[in-house]
Amino acid sequence: MKTILVTGVAGFIGSSVGKKLLERGDRVIGVDNMNDYYDVSLKEDRLKILKEFENFTFHKLDISEGFGELKKEKIDVICHLAAQAGVRYSIENPLAYQKANSLGTLQVFEFARHNKIPKVVYASSSSVYGNNKNVLFKESEKLDEQISLYAATKKSNELYAHVYNHLYGIEMIGLRFFTVYGPWGRPDMALFKFVKNILEGKQIDVYNSGKMQRDFTYIDDIVDGVVLALDKKCSFEIFNIARGETTELMDFIKAIEKALGKVADKNMMPMQDGDVLLTSGDISHTKDVLGYAPKVSVDEGVNNFVNWYKGYYGK
Ligand SMILES: NC(=O)c1ccc[n+]([C@@H]2O[C@H](COP(=O)([O-])OP(=O)(O)OC[C@H]3O[C@@H](n4cnc5c(N)ncnc54)[C@H](O)[C@@H]3O)[C@@H](O)[C@H]2O)c1
Repeated sequence: MKTILVTGVAGFIGSSVGKKLLERGDRVIGVDNMNDYYDVSLKEDRLKILKEFENFTFHKLDISEGFGELKKEKIDVICHLAAQAGVRYSIENPLAYQKANSLGTLQVFEFARHNKIPKVVYASSSSVYGNNKNVLFKESEKLDEQISLYAATKKSNELYAHVYNHLYGIEMIGLRFFTVYGPWGRPDMALFKFVKNILEGKQIDVYNSGKMQRDFTYIDDIVDGVVLALDKKCSFEIFNIARGETTELMDFIKAIEKALGKVADKNMMPMQDGDVLLTSGDISHTKDVLGYAPKVSVDEGVNNFVNWYKGYYGK
């Protein structure tokens, strides 16, 4: 049994990872500041599930202000998932990203350094690839051309991680997640908004008239990737955690329409600032080193989300 500090534990990915770790018998110390970037009651409901496990403790704190009383704990590994997420909101409120992602991550790394925590697994993002020209995005590429402040903070987290690995020997694994979706998902993301609007008979906004492609990755596959990374002995690594297949946005919408049995009223919109046209993760390195093997197709994953959404909101 390991003791794992999970930051952002009330979040979409944090709560899903936390549950998996508790189910296999690890002790999870969860932290989250429960901010209102989206519906706080969704975060509270995710936490309720975790609080049913004896091995779970929760601390409401802001990581950018340090870890206070947690200094007493003996922690084996930090799983750092707290962040101000979302590309679009970083246009509106860049300083939120500087605080949560840049300062917050530095505080996590400082906490690891001063409390002799040997390993940190932290969330990066496919957005660090910017408008990459390659067909498949590889971890080995040199990446200096992010196109949103969100992406720039995520890229800088990888640079901080390298410094802390080099200076203090802390094991550092960065995970570049590719468009994560599934039950308990984030209300600011496309799938959630599309399903909500279609069920309420409202239009859906389709950016760049649907001419976009994403490597949509189901939450269970993401959780598998995180757990494999937590269990792997490495010094400094970055892994793509993707499905490894790209889907046209319009095909993703078709999968939603099929799952709902309803056709969406689509409002074609221009491209949003900061958005990329394509994400496409090469997962060969993740497969080779971690034994990662994503399993869930877009059709199956979208169906699971729709079933969860209807159950949760009583539709
Ligand atoms: N969901 C995706 O598609 C995706 C893709 C790439 C990367 N990521 C990264 O994965 C991680 C988890 O994302 P998510 O989709 O679960 O987002 P989320 O917003 O659901 O979860 C993040 C959690 O962190 C908490 N948080 C934010 N700032 C904090 C602070 N200063 N102190 C303490 N807690 C704070 C929030 O309250 C939230 O519960 C993030 O680092 C995100 O950038 C997500």
